[in-house]
Amino acid sequence: MWVFLNDRFVGREEAVVSVFDHGFLYGDGVYETIRSYGPRIFMRDQHLARLERSAEAIGLEIPIAPAQWPDLLHEAMRLNEVGNDSADAYLRITISRGAGEIGLDPSLCPHPTVVIMTKALGNYPAAFSRDGVSLTVAKTRRNLPEALSPQIKATNFLNNILAKRESIAAGTFDSLLLNWREELTECTISNLFFYAGGTLRTPALECGILDGITRTIVMTVAQEEGIVVEEGHYQLRALQESDECFLTNTTMEIMPVTRIDTLPVGNGRPGPLTRRLQAAFAASRPRFLEEVP
Ligand code: PDD
Repeated sequence: MWVFLNDRFVGREEAVVSVFDHGFLYGDGVYETIRSYGPRIFMRDQHLARLERSAEAIGLEIPIAPAQWPDLLHEAMRLNEVGNDSADAYLRITISRGAGEIGLDPSLCPHPTVVIMTKALGNYPAAFSRDGVSLTVAKTRRNLPEALSPQIKATNFLNNILAKRESIAAGTFDSLLLNWREELTECTISNLFFYAGGTLRTPALECGILDGITRTIVMTVAQEEGIVVEEGHYQLRALQESDECFLTNTTMEIMPVTRIDTLPVGNGRPGPLTRRLQAAFAASRPRFLEEVP
């Protein structure tokens, strides 16, 4: 595997970061997970814009000029022989505060660390999409936005990891997190949608969620399909009484949820609206891909 580290591509053995890096010491950094379909990167500019917003929110200056990213991402795919007709690519950009003396002051770290990793995208088992997955409602609450905004895609992922541990212990696919007001938010790496009363509903950004790029596309595609979409503040009961539920993220696309704790969602099978949106998403995907360079 070739990894981009700061200013060049290095082999896996050389892809090493200092123990003084504040990303390691304090979780001080930001990241993005991106994917390609064949050679074309999905929502490339939106991911790069979110990376920029995350970095700005923590006062981190990205030492890569915006115009450089497309070439770097494609070079990463080319060197690793992914992002081609035989393998879609998984791409991860990580930018940490960089190495510096121990202490919280970011000015101790003059040079942020930049890493690009890529590999073949590992697809979820087909049975997940066919039969749906199960969720645990976590006891861990989603971060209070005023404490650590979930809109910052930060390398400090402990909030999500604590919730993930709960789902692992329960033997479910993932955990759903409530916020400080017991409202629905999102899962550990995906956004939440449910269909109830003829309306497709998803928690509003103010509930304390990441502004998922797939979430935005799914809302757009649903509206184009004539489906009423509502962003709002919802309690768990609304979800438990819903007809259908699914998750969205870059690698899952649209993943049906058929069980929440001990309760089936709807009739316990992925529903017709979810199927329709999966098909509409797949059909409209080409317009969300970059041009082939
Ligand atoms: N996760 N919510 C959280 C907490 C996430 O970490 C993610 C993405 C999403 C969905 O965002 P998008 O549609 O832009 O992928 C929602 C990525 C996949 C990750 O952490 O690897």
